[in-house]
Amino acid sequence: MQRYVNVIIDGATIHAPRGSSVLDTAIEYGICIPHLCHVPYLSDLGACRLCIVEHVVGGRASITTSCTLQVQEGMVVLTNTERIRRLRRNIAELLVAQAPNSRAIQDIAVRCGVSEVRYPFRHADCVLCGRCVRACNELWKARAKGFVGRGKNRHIDYPFGVRPDFCKQCGACVQLCPMSIPPCNGPMKPGEEYLCGQCDAQLIISEKAPGSCTWCRLGDGFACGRYAGARSR
Ligand code: SF4
Ligand code: SF4
Ligand code: FES
Repeated sequence: MQRYVNVIIDGATIHAPRGSSVLDTAIEYGICIPHLCHVPYLSDLGACRLCIVEHVVGGRASITTSCTLQVQEGMVVLTNTERIRRLRRNIAELLVAQAPNSRAIQDIAVRCGVSEVRYPFRHADCVLCGRCVRACNELWKARAKGFVGRGKNRHIDYPFGVRPDFCKQCGACVQLCPMSIPPCNGPMKPGEEYLCGQCDAQLIISEKAPGSCTWCRLGDGFACGRYAGARSR
């Protein structure tokens, strides 16, 4: 079996390792797809939906999350169409409404073109991205926390709400949580929410040099794989 497949992402033909995801392939090639729940060394869950792309099959495009979509020979993917930008902006807006105090989410939202939030702010302390759960399960094999409940009641917790003895207190769950990076100017009060946008400087560079990667980090603490791997196109 061939170890590489040819995929076309935004018109560029890319030779990608079989089994890799569209998101990893795009990032490796320098194509920026916003993402939140993806962590390069953990399994993908498709939780945040920020990484959506159009997958074109037989002339018809379906929308799917690029972190959970594996590359296939001849695959055609569009990452930055008007439709995708609109949907992604809406997803980012909902994330900010859910957790306006997360600087990581604010930064990503600004990069997705969000300038105002039309939804009520919920001030939740979690966006259910599952980064903490996967870090705990996959890095440390501790299984000390997980998703609990369904629908509106779904949340992250320890078994029976009590930190178990087998929690290794490694801190990985906190380090990877988008809620652990406070906004620059301190916690926002209900009714005083705003989009920080103070990380716009990199975006201004990208407007002046369209198509070039500005190593923006996609939200402080959320390096895209390209930044983390210090690879260049
Ligand atoms: S601190 Fe405990 S709950 Fe958090 S990742 Fe480590 S083992 Fe898991
Ligand atoms: S606690 Fe943090 S890392 Fe865990 S699911 Fe919620 S937002 Fe994500
Ligand atoms: S990064 Fe793909 S769904 Fe979150």
